[in-house]
Amino acid sequence: MITKKIDNKTIRYLNYLKDVFGNKLMLKKNLFTNKLEVYKREIENCKKCQLGNTRNKFVFGDGNANADIMFVGEAPGATEDETGITFVGRAGKLLDKLLMEIDLHRDDVFIANVLKCRPPKNRDPLPNEIATCEQYLHKQISLIKPKVIVALGRIAGKTLIKKELSLGKMRGNAYNYQNVDLYVTYHPAAILRNPNWKESISSDFEMIANKYL
Ligand code: URA
Repeated sequence: MITKKIDNKTIRYLNYLKDVFGNKLMLKKNLFTNKLEVYKREIENCKKCQLGNTRNKFVFGDGNANADIMFVGEAPGATEDETGITFVGRAGKLLDKLLMEIDLHRDDVFIANVLKCRPPKNRDPLPNEIATCEQYLHKQISLIKPKVIVALGRIAGKTLIKKELSLGKMRGNAYNYQNVDLYVTYHPAAILRNPNWKESISSDFEMIANKYL
């Protein structure tokens, strides 16, 4: 029998998953392949910008290291900063639901953010924070090699497109980021504020699933 010592951080993570997903938690081997895990260890103590001093957890990103679809949000919020896991607050629950509508689970995709650390009081990311952190996203994309990137919200969209455009202008167009197709849709938090947009985001998810899965 092979026994492996599990560290306290892993135990806390497994307990968190058990709370969220119940006892039927299945550990998939490919949730994180080695290269991505090694990269996470390499950068998780980052102090390259001021957010390194105020964060609780470095939020690397989670999901399938071989995902065809990679979602990119803006930055961790309070719950993500506490748990170290992307999109676990109310917006995260909605993202889970949107994924379910296209028969996906968050373990099937990879979910990351432009910034890996929470900006105080959830303020918008500053240009120097984006400039410092974007290299981490680049490397994640080069390791995961998704077929498509979906930017969630105006901030993630304009950061990846490198143009100051409204969400309405970006949505529905195909862009390219690091030689990967890129689409921009609403941030799930925006749907919580304005449920009228729910149909639009669902149809964006459906279009992407039909095209890339
Ligand atoms: N909003 C984001 O943009 N990212 C998260 O991880 C959570 C909320």
